[in-house]
Amino acid sequence: MLSLVNKNILLGITGGIAAYKTPDLVRRLRDLGANVQVVLSKNAGDFVSEIALQAVSGHSVHNYKMDAESESGMGHIDLARWADAVLIAPATANFIARLKNGEADELLTTLCVATNAQIAIAPAMNQQMWANQATQENIKHLESIGVAILGPDSGDQACGEVGLGRMLQPIDLAERTAALFETGSLAGKSVMLTAGPTWEALDPVRGITNHSSGLMGYAIAQAAVEAGAKVTLVTGPTHLAVPNHVNAINVVSALDMQAAVMENIESQDIFIGVAAVADYRPVEVADCKIKKKTDEDTMTITMVKNPDILAGVAALEKPPFTVGFAAETNDVEQYARGKLERKKLDMIAANHVGGNTTGFGTPDNEIKLITKDDIIQLEKASKTQIARQLIEHVSIKFNKAK
Ligand code: C5P
Repeated sequence: MLSLVNKNILLGITGGIAAYKTPDLVRRLRDLGANVQVVLSKNAGDFVSEIALQAVSGHSVHNYKMDAESESGMGHIDLARWADAVLIAPATANFIARLKNGEADELLTTLCVATNAQIAIAPAMNQQMWANQATQENIKHLESIGVAILGPDSGDQACGEVGLGRMLQPIDLAERTAALFETGSLAGKSVMLTAGPTWEALDPVRGITNHSSGLMGYAIAQAAVEAGAKVTLVTGPTHLAVPNHVNAINVVSALDMQAAVMENIESQDIFIGVAAVADYRPVEVADCKIKKKTDEDTMTITMVKNPDILAGVAALEKPPFTVGFAAETNDVEQYARGKLERKKLDMIAANHVGGNTTGFGTPDNEIKLITKDDIIQLEKASKTQIARQLIEHVSIKFNKAK
């Protein structure tokens, strides 16, 4: 049964004739359990009444302006964060072009740029405008960056023509919006990952780190989103862009990473430790830059062991399905199996490092997924492809283990 219970849906209405159906759409979304807030584009108010939308949504309607008055209520960033999904219905050809260009020239476009939530659009326009090459290219681009395209439908149009371009009916749109939350092998599941290196400070300007680029962890975060999961990425310092729909928590040291993981672990179904966490950190962190000593040629740094975040998660009373990584230069399988057992993991992804074609910073990887009673070889492929295969195998094992 499709449901939107407790889901916050931001309904953006743009200036097309199908906007007259949106009070009904709000009702249908609320019937499925959603909380709905409405944002009107500049021209939408010509086609539907704000008062009607306010009455059916139970909230005051946000209009196109981003002025001091509206920002003093629920500001645009809060509204962007509030949404679990942004549904633009109807989405005109003009709005689609502006969305594709990442414009942020009024409240609704700004929200689309600022949100982390899934965006869905319900195109509605004359059939020629829909068939137009520019519109089709815009749609293709939006699809490629993860925007869900709902419809359009075909049939009689308000302009008197017949063809593809009608907005889907409110009931269908509400159901298709609910279905956005139900797709993929990890639909409705929460996945937390660690990624990247850690930085263990020696003084305010120096520290100990490693060559982890974060590529593998970020690719797995993206694959988990594609599989329908709600993803939290606890990441050390990297130069990578956070994938869409991933909630990133930026950390620096191993201790920060451990704190961020433990604070949020309770609600997680799956934990994947991909980060290259420093095994040790300096015992003392100098308040000021450490000065070079003219009379000594050597310097000693005393280090203390960092907590093992992964083992700590696996040792919880009610642990999530826990997956570790083992980067080894030799005897990969044997060492990885040792880690699987010692850290009480459900699965370990073992890879060979030290060569120059796979591992730290390279675009490709080749790994063995090892469980108590299985070994699955993932042949050399891009980290994006390896990540998708890994998530597929994790979801199979996770669903079996439940
Ligand atoms: O024991 P080793 O460091 O080789 O184990 C690697 C795995 O353990 C990786 O999944 C890594 O993210 C995790 N790990 C951790 N905390 C540490 C060290 C490693 O979570 N302090």
